[in-house]
Amino acid sequence: LDRSSAASDVYKRQIIVPTYILGIESSCDDTSASVLCDGKVLSNLIANQEIHKSFGGVVPELASRAHQQNIIPVVNQAILNANIDKNQLNAIAYTRGPGLLGSLLVGSSFSKSLSMGLNVPLIEVNHMQAHLLAHFIEDCGDEKTTFPFIGVTISGGHTQIVFVKNYFDMEIIGETLDDAIGETFDKCGKMLGLPYPAGPHIDKHSKVGNPNKFKFTKPRVGGLNYSFSGLKTGFMRYIQKEKNNNDNFISAELKNLCASLQLTIVEILYEKIILAMKQTGINRVVFGGGVSCNSGIIEKFKQNENIENYKSYFPKFEYTTDNAAMIAMVGYLKYKNNDFSSIEKSAQARFKY
Ligand code: KG4
Ligand code: ZN
Repeated sequence: LDRSSAASDVYKRQIIVPTYILGIESSCDDTSASVLCDGKVLSNLIANQEIHKSFGGVVPELASRAHQQNIIPVVNQAILNANIDKNQLNAIAYTRGPGLLGSLLVGSSFSKSLSMGLNVPLIEVNHMQAHLLAHFIEDCGDEKTTFPFIGVTISGGHTQIVFVKNYFDMEIIGETLDDAIGETFDKCGKMLGLPYPAGPHIDKHSKVGNPNKFKFTKPRVGGLNYSFSGLKTGFMRYIQKEKNNNDNFISAELKNLCASLQLTIVEILYEKIILAMKQTGINRVVFGGGVSCNSGIIEKFKQNENIENYKSYFPKFEYTTDNAAMIAMVGYLKYKNNDFSSIEKSAQARFKY
């Protein structure tokens, strides 16, 4: 018996305004809950999992355990901060995938139970779609773009160029063949002795370093795809060689190494996105994902807008990394479309657009 979808027929007849949506995100190592009222964020809480720092990366089993501990207090606090009662919620939106299965299971099981307990519809959300639609959140800073646009998801797990025809009509036209861009920042940063995640540290050091001091090789990959593993290996070989000559090489050159690495990554990213805009004839590009707050990326894309004749859109910092506000935002868009899910649907580690 599919109770949720049977119930959704009833919901179809009664879209309630204003609409309060609870979003729940647990795809990786952040447990997040957010309440939106008609696309406006009333609360957006994120519990970060410090435990992974000592391992230099996310440990899936530890991530799911931490989600288990965090989910009830985080959801409770999000509802309290929104200054509403849980009975005012009109729907529960949750991340169905992609992500770590154990982590997704915590959020999905909790969301299903809560939707049944409150007798409100359940809405499934694709995490990557949510990153691309995050900038539609009312207070997201940038003016809103129009469709179609080129979406770019850049995070610890993804590097994708997406042709976004409409809210829920998206097609991947380019992606990394190996490492993700955030992973490249994190792994190269680890070689420099920087804490996990290293991306923000590299960004910070880059601001005071010379980006032209070192040259690293760029990949030669056809079409709109990316490859970062060659850069990572080249970077590792180079610093090992220099360290053999000088023990203090990294500490003496840290800022310049960071700035030169960041410039190389930014240029690799930039070239393919310009190519994607030329190939599709679309001159709007929207960024999403943890890496889209990188100052080098923002600067490069903003600086070249008039030269290359395009417009770039970056979400506000708090909506770039994994957050439940973007999940609730997609939940709101789907709610208005009567697009409800069922408790029969299981979490998906790999989840297509
Ligand atoms: O989207 P996100 O929070 O989580 C997922 O991977 O899904 O992205 C995290 C990634 C990490 O690799 C982190 O190093 C990177 O975003 N990151 C940055 C910056 N801030 C976060 N990378 C470069 N520059 C930054 N300022
Ligand atoms: Zn993400």
